[in-house]
Amino acid sequence: MPATTITTTATTTEYVLFEDSLFEDKYLSPEVQSNLHEGYKLYPLRANDFERGYLDVLSVLTEVGAHTVDTWNSQYQFMKKHNDTYFTITITDEKTNRIAATGTILIEHKFVHKNGLVGHIEDIAVDSSHQGKKLGLRVIEALKYIGEMTGCYKVILDCAVKNIPFYEKCGFTPKESQMAWYI
Ligand code: ACO
Repeated sequence: MPATTITTTATTTEYVLFEDSLFEDKYLSPEVQSNLHEGYKLYPLRANDFERGYLDVLSVLTEVGAHTVDTWNSQYQFMKKHNDTYFTITITDEKTNRIAATGTILIEHKFVHKNGLVGHIEDIAVDSSHQGKKLGLRVIEALKYIGEMTGCYKVILDCAVKNIPFYEKCGFTPKESQMAWYI
């Protein structure tokens, strides 16, 4: 699917530019949208976010690797095919048209809790020049909203000990332990 579609009708010469989004706008919290400082806007991940520096923002979190437009598109299309599972949101600085913050909630389908759904929050990142402006908090609020909209019975995440106070401010409480096995 192309990143940008141009549509026209027989009765008009107007062109409408439409950029593909990962999921429908109905999953975006109106409350979070209205609580953002002027100049910031909440979006689903969009097909051209590679150009808006999405991967640069992710690099505050961990190593992202050397991507090309093709490796970006292949991952975006995979997520789009599974967009009842992958919900990645961005907050864009509208003045510069660059991504300022991002986060993902993955919706896991389980047999327990009678086919229950669990939301897993992953890849929270705020560009260093935008940190401390409540964008991290807004990202988490937006992802919790998606967790509620999709019917999750709980939303969980793993984080570094130093980030525990941040997640507590976002309404999370520590529970059990994280384990990892690296290949
Ligand atoms: N320790 C203590 N308090 C914190 C921290 C912290 N590390 N970070 C933020 N806070 C507090 C703020 O002071 C603020 O408190 P207040 O409401 O009393 O003023 C509140 O939490 C909200 O802070 P925000 O301004 O929303 O934080 P920010 O936008 O800077 O985002 C984040 C925080 C996401 C941790 C950001 O600093 C970041 O991207 N860090 C690097 C990447 C990272 O560590 N991501 C999290 C990985 S875990 C995961 O992905 C599940």
